[in-house]
Amino acid sequence: MSADDKYPEESGRRRFVKGVVGGSALAGVGAVGTVTVNSATASPGSGGGTTQAWAIQNTAGPAPRGMPQIPLEVDDEGYVKGIWPDVETVSQGGRQVQVAEMDLGGSTYTSEWFQYCGVEGYQGIQPGYESDNYFRSDSAPPYDWQSSSKEQGDRFHVDDFDDYTEWGNGIGTAGVGKPATGTWRSQDAEDVIPVQVLRSPRIEEAAQNDEWLQASTDQGFIAWLNKCTHFCCVPGYKQSDSAARFGGADGVYCQCHQSVYDPFSIVQTLFTARPRPD
Ligand code: FES
Repeated sequence: MSADDKYPEESGRRRFVKGVVGGSALAGVGAVGTVTVNSATASPGSGGGTTQAWAIQNTAGPAPRGMPQIPLEVDDEGYVKGIWPDVETVSQGGRQVQVAEMDLGGSTYTSEWFQYCGVEGYQGIQPGYESDNYFRSDSAPPYDWQSSSKEQGDRFHVDDFDDYTEWGNGIGTAGVGKPATGTWRSQDAEDVIPVQVLRSPRIEEAAQNDEWLQASTDQGFIAWLNKCTHFCCVPGYKQSDSAARFGGADGVYCQCHQSVYDPFSIVQTLFTARPRPD
């Protein structure tokens, strides 16, 4: 794993430190010391500022950085679910706000990783949104295996990916990973959070000696928020014959302006998360 990106790394670990976002200062923000209060009275808004996310690396095209990884686990019955950070209420600028943030695999994992491209306003990104966090099949999957075996809303099971060391669809190299497209934290929500799930022997191997990947992947499964960091299109892993022309045959390719991401290169990326609306 490398830790490079188009932005310099932040030094030191951030803890609830908020900055200036989009020209509007969040005056007085920078709460330290977590104070738990009745969360029913806390605002879902605020948050945002500088955050450092783990991401699938952007390797080509105009995208400014990688797409954020969604930590996950396989449950006792074999279903794949995302991990949502712990929700707590903190005091920021004299008011109580909810945050979703936790230590995971030696890093600080926060909902701010997903706060860009308008996703910061989605219900599923609000810290207290009620969800079982399972990834679910979407309405029009681009993969034959998925469209023939999964209904919209079905959860993904490890057995769906049994052939992950051989699977291929004629794009790029077979056997590097079996993908699915889906949604996360979007049931009963107006806006759907698009995700891509991939089970890969490369991820399984990389996780053996990496604290972050051990904590955020499981049995070779990895997932990311599938929103291009350029202009917010939904890219695809092995979904376009055109990807090869831009070096993305085994990568994640965005058809809008030809950005390419490498799902086997997980890097830290520093960016300014947008604040959640109240
Ligand atoms: S490359 Fe422009 S939106 Fe993805």
